[in-house]
Amino acid sequence: MVLVDKFGREITDVRISITDRCNYKCVYCRTGNEGALYADLPIADYLRMSRVLIGLGIRKVRITGGEPLLRKGVVDFVRELSRLRTPQGERLDIAMTTNGHLLAEMVQPLKDAGLDRVTVSMDAVDPDRFARITRVANGYDNVLAGIRAARQVGLSPVKVNCVLMRGFNEDQIIPFGMFAREEGVVVRFIEFMPLEEERVWSPDVVVTLDEIVRRMSEYRPLIEIAHERSETARRYRFDDGIGEIGIIAPVSHPFCGHCSRIRITSDGKIRTCLFSIWDHDLHGQMRRGASDAELAEFIRGVVQRKEQRHHIGEPDFVPASRTMVHIGG
Ligand code: GTP
Ligand code: 5AD
Repeated sequence: MVLVDKFGREITDVRISITDRCNYKCVYCRTGNEGALYADLPIADYLRMSRVLIGLGIRKVRITGGEPLLRKGVVDFVRELSRLRTPQGERLDIAMTTNGHLLAEMVQPLKDAGLDRVTVSMDAVDPDRFARITRVANGYDNVLAGIRAARQVGLSPVKVNCVLMRGFNEDQIIPFGMFAREEGVVVRFIEFMPLEEERVWSPDVVVTLDEIVRRMSEYRPLIEIAHERSETARRYRFDDGIGEIGIIAPVSHPFCGHCSRIRITSDGKIRTCLFSIWDHDLHGQMRRGASDAELAEFIRGVVQRKEQRHHIGEPDFVPASRTMVHIGG
């Protein structure tokens, strides 16, 4: 069983947001606004959606938010997901994207429940800069402890996502290269996309793949290594074999042609692209009493209508109908 869209792309990954609440207010994502906009669903509902999706060929589940570790029941969700099997009888790849603030104390329960790996968002290796970007006073130590604890329990490879914004943290490129080598994590630089609440995006703020490679090469030569076609990141290792970095370049080098992802928002809507201008109410179908077979049919129809590509930076660009925190990263 495979889910294929009208452009022939096979959909194998789902990213499920389990809350749109977040305890950080990163400048490239949120305003100072505290409130979550959309209701969370019972964990059992996310599980049912997952089960139906897995029956349709989904093999990778990434748990996102908001901040997923704020959600009560997150460990139970992981445990239940890890019991599911693909139609071929295989385990899922279960990952999570978190800001890391609460990670240190939760890594062991998460690992025991069956989480395979974790990606931590961290946009500066300097504590003051970190505070300026996240707008949280004492987060840095927690996040670093979370990253180290994740490595220790083997939630690996531990990946660190760094969104670069000119004027905020482009000088962190080389320090992050050193961090990748010292801490044994894969640091992935992400080009800033127009998905933020404060509408500060402009092409000038984006630090592009070419610039990242150029700057990092001043520290040590990089060698590009192979990546999966559907993978978002281009991968590089340093010339001496110590340390790996990745660059996710949706703005300067879009990868829509190989996209394998759909998303479920915390309120149960399917989004077929980060930049979708509408979404599809899967949970509404559940509330109306749809059977699993009917849900599967609904999902198939939605996937057919997946957008061909995004239009970031083009004159016809229309902002997504939700910002990142309400989509799930
Ligand atoms: P793995 O590669 O499985 O480890 O997953 P990951 O979440 O660590 O990385 P992934 O490549 O899925 O996503 C990392 C970041 O890339 C996201 O937080 C987004 O910023 C960006 N990204 C992911 N998917 C898309 C997409 O479909 N379109 C665009 N434009 N950007 C994306
Ligand atoms: N552009 C690029 N990446 C973003 N993220 C959040 N907002 C943006 C944006 N506007 C990243 C976060 C996190 C992941 C969920 O997406 O840093 O790592």
